[in-house]
Amino acid sequence: SPRPTDPASPAAFPAARPRRLRHTAALRDAVRETSLAPGDLVAPLFVKEGLDEPQAVPSLPGVQQHTVDSLLAEAKELRALGIRTLLLFGIPAHKDADGSEAWNPDGILQRALAALREAYGHDLVLAADTCLDEYTDHGHCGPLDSAGHVRNDDANEGYARAAVSQARAGADLVAPSGMMDGQVAAIRRALDEAGFAERTAIMSYCTKYASVLYGPFRDVAESAPSTGDRRGYQLDPANADEGVREALADAGEGADVLLVKPATAYLDLVHRVKEATGLPLAAYHVSGEYAMLQAAAERGWIDGPAVAEEVALSLRRAGADLVITYAAAEIARRLA
Ligand code: PBG
Repeated sequence: SPRPTDPASPAAFPAARPRRLRHTAALRDAVRETSLAPGDLVAPLFVKEGLDEPQAVPSLPGVQQHTVDSLLAEAKELRALGIRTLLLFGIPAHKDADGSEAWNPDGILQRALAALREAYGHDLVLAADTCLDEYTDHGHCGPLDSAGHVRNDDANEGYARAAVSQARAGADLVAPSGMMDGQVAAIRRALDEAGFAERTAIMSYCTKYASVLYGPFRDVAESAPSTGDRRGYQLDPANADEGVREALADAGEGADVLLVKPATAYLDLVHRVKEATGLPLAAYHVSGEYAMLQAAAERGWIDGPAVAEEVALSLRRAGADLVITYAAAEIARRLA
């Protein structure tokens, strides 16, 4: 005989009429499986050294390169909408082959973190991108060998130094996005040695694809590689099992939060990584995905904020706890 916990076998039509539960908005609410709240959203924000005024970027309408002051103002607006988690990217005035500005204690990202912490205390969650592509003069995610390949372990050393300086500046989460092997282990070790074992968590871009959807981001972050591409370190879009293995590896190295990117074309990975690890998971609706929505919305072909909300809800349905999106404010306004 069936165990009492076995699900009932579904009734068939005409006994079963699923539309009964769709009849009123209240009924639909009562049986809704997935929630979406402003607190699930993460806003990516960019701060650029040496700016006097915030700067718009043509390929990513609605997104600015901020000064520290305009960043503080945007954080305040986002908080008023219920968005509490910010993912911060720094754009330095000086770049070099190693990306050494990434661990300058007085670098632009470090100053922005400290200013946000000072202004808003622990009311906001501050996540810092921990990568070198905005900081290297060649635009790759770590120092290069003579053949133009990123030197894995030297990149990790840079990420570790950057992560420690970000933790010192006040980051709650450091977010390595370079897809180097062992990046989480290297960062965890350095954070622990520097006294941040208990306070600073790692949100790892474990499952990040070599996508053609990052173009507008590279305009904003000024991080397009000057030669070659990132296929030597980011995942092949054809590979799903490998994306799950990468997630398991980062979990084993001590990642606290995992991340899949891009989002909408990679929903299978969002689902599988959540199932395989059970860890808190973020999905990053990336710049190219957002730009497509914005372009269609500008033409009046779709309702941009409504589509953005549906995308975020769908990412939550697939298994994401956090949705990183340039549309965070638009979505939160609709949810209000
Ligand atoms: C690189 C990084 C990238 C993004 C986030 N971190 C771009 C890249 O790999 O070139 C892309 C995000 C987006 O497109 O919105 N460290």
